[in-house]
Amino acid sequence: MKDTAQPGLIDLDTPALDGGENFPIPEPLTSHGPAKVISMCNQKGGVGKTTTTINLGAALAEYGRKVLIIDFDPQGAASAGLGINANERDTTIYDLLVAARPDILPVIEHTSTPGLDIVPANIDLSAAEVQLVNEVAREQALTRVLRPVLDDYDIILVDCQPSLGLLTVNALTASHGVIIPLETEFFALRGVALLVETVERVRDRLNPRLQIDGVLATMVNTQTLHSREVLERLEQAFGDTLYRTQIRRTIKFPDASVAAEPITSYAPTHSGAQAYRQLARELIARGNVA
Ligand SMILES: Nc1ncnc2c1ncn2[C@@H]1O[C@H](COP(=O)(O)OP(=O)(O)OP(=O)(O)O)[C@@H](O)[C@H]1O
Ligand SMILES: [Mg+2]
Repeated sequence: MKDTAQPGLIDLDTPALDGGENFPIPEPLTSHGPAKVISMCNQKGGVGKTTTTINLGAALAEYGRKVLIIDFDPQGAASAGLGINANERDTTIYDLLVAARPDILPVIEHTSTPGLDIVPANIDLSAAEVQLVNEVAREQALTRVLRPVLDDYDIILVDCQPSLGLLTVNALTASHGVIIPLETEFFALRGVALLVETVERVRDRLNPRLQIDGVLATMVNTQTLHSREVLERLEQAFGDTLYRTQIRRTIKFPDASVAAEPITSYAPTHSGAQAYRQLARELIARGNVA
């Protein structure tokens, strides 16, 4: 289903959907915080949540924003992708979630990107969901963990696991915004209605400020008719909620994960790095973040 190239039908010039807009270079911030908390969510696996968390975070940090990534997936992909070996750590996000008095500061790690920090996760986190079920205010565990550092950061990005379970509900409860990355392929929209419903339920019952900041088309291959058709459908379905910036499919992203670096430092001039810088500028231009 992926990359169904139709060479006879290639039309490289797709201006309206090509994310060609140039968003202005943001002004530097004169002070930091309070943080805008954004969850990167899609219960579908492998759509670019972690890649977007890491590279958007790094791009925002390049623009002088103080960014904290919360690895909220027991697979620990965001931690690994930023060079943190979370398996060797005694304390991770898991310990904070289940602690009576969580102290996040000692669990925060700096990354090699200045201004970009992370709270790592490892497989321990898979036990949290079961353990939290019988807790009072089980949906607010992450909210409580983040509270002490809200004034230290401009943006907190939560890299969710591919599920709509209690951990994701915790992420949504702690967030102001949601970004939904969608792989640009035929079944991209499958399951999105359920995700939107979950966001609405959390908004109604737990977190009235929650909103969907944007939908991001990832793994775009503009040289295939198929990819362009899917982009048109996304545009129809989401209108202005769809970010103008698109992330194209390129091997440089998996390469950067192997190198355990954001693409912005692994291949700073590559179009993939430029795309995430543009996404960072678009978020700022839209007022999604300061
Ligand atoms: N734009 C892209 N072009 C090519 N490969 C990509 C792109 N974005 C992500 N990938 C690769 O696709 C795979 C899945 O991406 P990623 O881990 O970011 O998705 P995810 O939604 O976080 O997955 P999961 O649901 O398993 O957490 C990774 O190997 C990643 O390197
Ligand atoms: Mg992931």
